[in-house]
Amino acid sequence: MPDEVLEALSPRSGGIYVDGTLGGAGHSGLILEASAPEGELIGFDRDAEALAAASERLAVFGGRVRLFHRNFSSIAATLAEIGVERIDGFVLDLGVSSHQLDREERGFSFQQDAPLDMRMDRSAGRTAADLVNTLSEGELTRIVTDYGEERWAKRIASFIVKARDTHPIETTFQLVDLIKGAIPKAKWEERLHPATRTFQALRIAVNEELKSLEDGLADLLRLLAKGGRGAVISFHSLEDRIVKESFRNAATGCTCPKFVPRCICGRVPECRLVTRKPLRATDREVAENPRSRSARLRVVEKIV
Ligand SMILES: C[S@@+](CC[C@H](N)C(=O)[O-])C[C@H]1O[C@@H](n2cnc3c(N)ncnc32)[C@H](O)[C@@H]1O
Repeated sequence: MPDEVLEALSPRSGGIYVDGTLGGAGHSGLILEASAPEGELIGFDRDAEALAAASERLAVFGGRVRLFHRNFSSIAATLAEIGVERIDGFVLDLGVSSHQLDREERGFSFQQDAPLDMRMDRSAGRTAADLVNTLSEGELTRIVTDYGEERWAKRIASFIVKARDTHPIETTFQLVDLIKGAIPKAKWEERLHPATRTFQALRIAVNEELKSLEDGLADLLRLLAKGGRGAVISFHSLEDRIVKESFRNAATGCTCPKFVPRCICGRVPECRLVTRKPLRATDREVAENPRSRSARLRVVEKIV
């Protein structure tokens, strides 16, 4: 939703903007063009490949760009390191990129047979294979239930644990076969591959995506300058719930009980909700990029 993001941020020359999820640098490129000649962009991606591609794409903007191979949840420490105190806008376009999904060897896709990896940052952390081969049945059930909203989670976890007793689960197709065996065929959803929810759950767990979002968003809101705006695009209800609650919390003022004649809590709203309901991709965008069908954009503005 590049046009909507650009309209929300209205980048200006001299402003400092953060793109927490560079990917192919589409949003960053637009922000830099719109904030010429002196707008600056600070970009993050946990994926070294994405960072290299973004760095090549943004090279034309020279010293106006600073890129970091880091989780955007490190925003506060990173800005302190480079001596930036306030930012004028930020964008987060969450989840994995089409590029990551298409790269077979990354193990994100249930449609390609590959090692079960799913790490955005391949230099650190546990892979999806590590999780399915070591977590207890209870932990696997919880992850698949909480992060995949999969009603067959218990059976899937039980099939995984039984299978790994004889052979470690190392590839995406091994896992897909187990999931297909665990969900009775009559219950498969017509327009949803049976492995969709479990793969989403494992990806979220491997990359600790919800924790990064909670931590990063709190700092990004705090670092926004008065009048600055934040735009977040999420792709599933778990992410959107965190964004909605963080924004609503930042836009909440006095919380004194009604019977108190005058405010004693002293709380004032820090932000204003620019979008009360999330914006959705247009039919044209969905036709061009089917993944945008589930995208929801929320925008907030700092008012103090
Ligand atoms: C949907 S893509 C972004 C696409 C981008 N807006 C563009 O215009 O091309 C998401 C990117 O964010 C990265 N990412 C996701 N969560 C992250 C996090 N917590 N910290 C840093 N990068 C993250 C992924 O590695 C991926 O490259």
